[in-house]
Amino acid sequence: MEIIILPTADDVARTAADAIEEQVRRGPSVLGLATGSTPLGTYQELIARHRTGGLSFAQAQGFLLDEYVGLPAAHPQSYHSVIRDEFTASVDFAPDAVHGLDGMAEDPEAEAARYEGLIAAAGGVDIQILGIGTDGHVGFNEPMSSLGSRTRIKTLTRQTRQDNARFFDSADDVPDHVLTQGLGTIREARHLLLLAMGEAKAEAIAAAVEGPVAAICPASALQLHPHVSVLVDESAASRLA
Ligand code: F6R
Repeated sequence: MEIIILPTADDVARTAADAIEEQVRRGPSVLGLATGSTPLGTYQELIARHRTGGLSFAQAQGFLLDEYVGLPAAHPQSYHSVIRDEFTASVDFAPDAVHGLDGMAEDPEAEAARYEGLIAAAGGVDIQILGIGTDGHVGFNEPMSSLGSRTRIKTLTRQTRQDNARFFDSADDVPDHVLTQGLGTIREARHLLLLAMGEAKAEAIAAAVEGPVAAICPASALQLHPHVSVLVDESAASRLA
């Protein structure tokens, strides 16, 4: 793991955008897109580079990490809507180049298999953006997820529902279930970019980077990957040895 400690959250966003820009300028690329607060600065930076620096996503495809079960794509908090509003509609992805899981699928198992097939057909993910939960989740692989897991339905922990309540009217409105790429799926991406900012993520980052590889901290599974860049600001790095 390459650990890069940067002074501020803006530096994390710029450094992440540099890595994504380098990949996208290399040629047709498959981008793994996280949602939540963490990557928003990176997306803002990429939008700015698209507008002023000619950075084009016309040859890129995007794959979302996860989706809430029971929210239609049109719901403002579905990750389909969030990624469109926060990033993809503001750059030049081709129509239908951004893929997500269908949270309304009647057969979640079939939906998960469809999604795995779609990622494989695209040639796999070149660069995967990841945030981390305060409980160490990546994607929505909560503690005790299998380190080799594939895309599937998962139950969110109370902690994650509380953490995400800020996007909804209350914690009770946060869906209980999600469809998420598995840890095994995520680890097939060729380059993982794990981003974290702020004190609230410091413990999870320390466990992920310096703790044992163990299902209690799902992000620790990333230690098994040959190409991971961990970009953290000083607060998120504050519990590292
Ligand atoms: C979102 C995702 C989650 C978030 C994590 C951190 O697609 O997969 O793992 O990255 O919950 O969320 P924020 O960035 O809102 O702190």
